[in-house]
Amino acid sequence: MYSIDKGSLAINNQKFTIEGNIVKVLPNASTRTLPFKLSLVEDNIRFTIDEKRPDIENILVNSHRYNETGQVVLRKGLALSENVQSKLTENVVKFQFNSHFEAELQFSPIRLIVSYKGTPQLIVNNDNLLNMEHWRSREDPAEDHLHPEESDYDLFLDSFADSKADTIPLGPEAVAVDFTFKQFNHLYGIPEHADSLELQQTSGSEPYRLYNVDIFEYEVDSRLPMYGSIPLLIASKPELSIGIFWINSADTFIDIDKSTEDSKSHWISENGVIDFIIFIDETISGVNKKYGSVTGYPQLPQLFSLGYHQCRWNYNDQKDVLEVHENFDKHQIPYDTIWLDIEYADAKKYFTWNEETFPNPEHMLKVLDRTGRNLVVIVDPHIKTGYEVSNELVEQQLTINDNTNKTYYGHCWPGESIWIDTFNDKAKSYWDTKFAWATTFMGGKSTNIHLWNDMNEPSVFNGPETSAPRDTIHSGNWEHRSVHNLYGLTYHEATFESLKKRLRGHTRERPFILTRSYYAGSQKTAAMWTGDNMSKWEYLKYSIPMLLTSNVVGMPFAGADVGGFFGNPSSELLTRWYQTGIWYPFFRAHAHIDSRRREPWMPGDPYTSIIRNAINLRYSLLPVFYTAFYESSKSNLPIMKPVFYEAPENLEAYSIDDQFYLGDSGILVKPVTEENGEDVDIYIPDTEIYYDFTNGKLGKSYKLDKPGHISMEASLEQIPMMLKGGSILARKERYRRSSKLMYKDPYTLYVALNDQGAANGSLYIDDGESYDYESGNSILVNFEATSDKIIGTVVGNSDYTSTMDDVVIEKIIVVSGRKLIVGDIVVKQGEESSCRFSLSKNRQELTILNPKIKISSGWTIDLKESGIDHDEL
Ligand code: NOJ
Repeated sequence: MYSIDKGSLAINNQKFTIEGNIVKVLPNASTRTLPFKLSLVEDNIRFTIDEKRPDIENILVNSHRYNETGQVVLRKGLALSENVQSKLTENVVKFQFNSHFEAELQFSPIRLIVSYKGTPQLIVNNDNLLNMEHWRSREDPAEDHLHPEESDYDLFLDSFADSKADTIPLGPEAVAVDFTFKQFNHLYGIPEHADSLELQQTSGSEPYRLYNVDIFEYEVDSRLPMYGSIPLLIASKPELSIGIFWINSADTFIDIDKSTEDSKSHWISENGVIDFIIFIDETISGVNKKYGSVTGYPQLPQLFSLGYHQCRWNYNDQKDVLEVHENFDKHQIPYDTIWLDIEYADAKKYFTWNEETFPNPEHMLKVLDRTGRNLVVIVDPHIKTGYEVSNELVEQQLTINDNTNKTYYGHCWPGESIWIDTFNDKAKSYWDTKFAWATTFMGGKSTNIHLWNDMNEPSVFNGPETSAPRDTIHSGNWEHRSVHNLYGLTYHEATFESLKKRLRGHTRERPFILTRSYYAGSQKTAAMWTGDNMSKWEYLKYSIPMLLTSNVVGMPFAGADVGGFFGNPSSELLTRWYQTGIWYPFFRAHAHIDSRRREPWMPGDPYTSIIRNAINLRYSLLPVFYTAFYESSKSNLPIMKPVFYEAPENLEAYSIDDQFYLGDSGILVKPVTEENGEDVDIYIPDTEIYYDFTNGKLGKSYKLDKPGHISMEASLEQIPMMLKGGSILARKERYRRSSKLMYKDPYTLYVALNDQGAANGSLYIDDGESYDYESGNSILVNFEATSDKIIGTVVGNSDYTSTMDDVVIEKIIVVSGRKLIVGDIVVKQGEESSCRFSLSKNRQELTILNPKIKISSGWTIDLKESGIDHDEL
């Protein structure tokens, strides 16, 4: 029923595009024209299919297919590949890209086949599921438009209880296509679902669904939609990975079929255009990088936001906030940020404070600031009716409108509310004024206040599926159904831009925003969390695959509520949750309003001490986390990294989702997520040396002959960790009250030699708060070790290196799987000096004491007459 009209083709090899028409033949033999365009953007294939519709009259909404999702999420100024060789023959056009890859577009039946070194790897429309429900009028006889395989229920009526009021002004509009991944068995991505890391077979059962919703008490092991969506699916095998980025923001279903030696995915969206980009690369990291180059790399957040966040719904008043704040210091537990949920505002009217409970926010912010602490306050997109902000939004017509194009009214936390339409540029400018510099709401001139954007799916308590009706209308007269999954992103981006304007020129310029709803592209401006989980063991367990998935699809700044949102965790569960939560890129404890207090000191010892140790471990690793975020901001590196990334040849590793690496640091963690856990079997995916690194302390070394499990002790006070041979990492090991107070603390280096006696690693440093790093004010140290030398090379401009001149490396610990021979240790950084050291009894651990190395310039340590004793084990 679909074919490409060869006569319509226009091929431009200079800036590569193939444009033309697809012809759809209807049952009554009439035809419809579907213009398509295939292009190579940044060397990735992008394919779009639109529909040429007749002029549709008497209609309020925009009658075109929504084709602006790409405009919102893709980086501006993407380049088209130049001088591409293509060949047009009878029924196909072929072209080559990126040296190893070639593609062919067949005209009838339509197929797009992408090959690697001559072998087909991806076939688009292999199962002929390409479909675009063309426009028809309500009055048209159904039999003229429906092929026998199409269902014949009234496509202008929605019979679901929740949404039967939907006016469906444009009738059926769905788009669909299928992708076959040749000889691939492992698929990932398309969050958000409370599911395994690997996508499961769904053919014959509930497909994965992407529809941003405020899901109440979500269940685990589910394909149901959740708060956010990123329509990126990645298929991976040892020699190749392929990403499909489906650029459509409407309700979307994805069916997965892994029942044959190939894997298949079938995508259907309620409306919009067909628009997808294919990323193909020899490694999955390569796919990640390409996706980042097109949608933007994750932000480099303020350092404080990688520290510990203390939240609950709600800290009651200013006194309560400051008491909790003091208790952290009393119990010697570091933290960086305290949070205020919806009760801080007067009657939940955002941009106001309840003057009785929070009489002096500026003072509160000042007290927090003395020890480098921050405050995050919540501002949701629903605005209570009957006060200044909502009145102005209504007057200026900056709201989401109902299907008659008048302000839409619904219910949310404050009662009757309206919703700001952040697709409207004027609404964004209005938003700027609300966060403007020195407003009382933002604590006057405070710069330690940041934002939480919740309920932005949007959540509408009395709306269909607890969201906005699909026929509500946004700027440009676009129906909500077309932009639904994108709304949350436009909202948090608007907040980000407003805060950026507010903070411009100040020392702490980088805005921090947590969002519940998100879409592809959100990584540039926000962190996400997995919403309302429960204080139950299975939610702790599922937090790991959920966050791994988020990391795989380029949204690494992700976390889950530590302790679980609903309910009251046992002290053991709470403790285990902290031991897991310290690995979440975004590390925040949160609790429901009805939950009992559970700040780290509440359970008492031994729990409190164990939680303190866990949080201290996180703080000691902040340089490693920050370096991983830096890498991610350049290449889309997952921060919680699935095991198979590190061992792509090992097929067994592709399914492991209860343990992970921390970025490229070599730290491998398997948190305990079971009650009464006493030990864990950690999976080692390769034959490298691994060092026991329980609680961040180096221990015994292991080297397996083949990938397999090692049993590790995991009593309540133990966090099972390994450090991979070949890694070097830098930590800061002194207790401070917040990350800001650690800024100039000395570093301790951990050098874990591999079997050849070598290791390397890196450390990224900047001021952690401003955008000065963009003009080069940063330091990147590359470390390299061999068995007789350790070298640090530094890249950084002199302005910044001189600021950091007083920061030193105070200790270096070197471990080896074999016995070390150590003669003299000489440090060279300008001058040469000998250095004290100690060697462990088994001669596998060397500690270099106070080498007095400045972090800001290069250095060498000669381990004279030293090396590895290769004969002795
Ligand atoms: C729902 C959010 O998921 C939760 O974290 C928050 O506490 C409540 N809304 C109240 O704002």
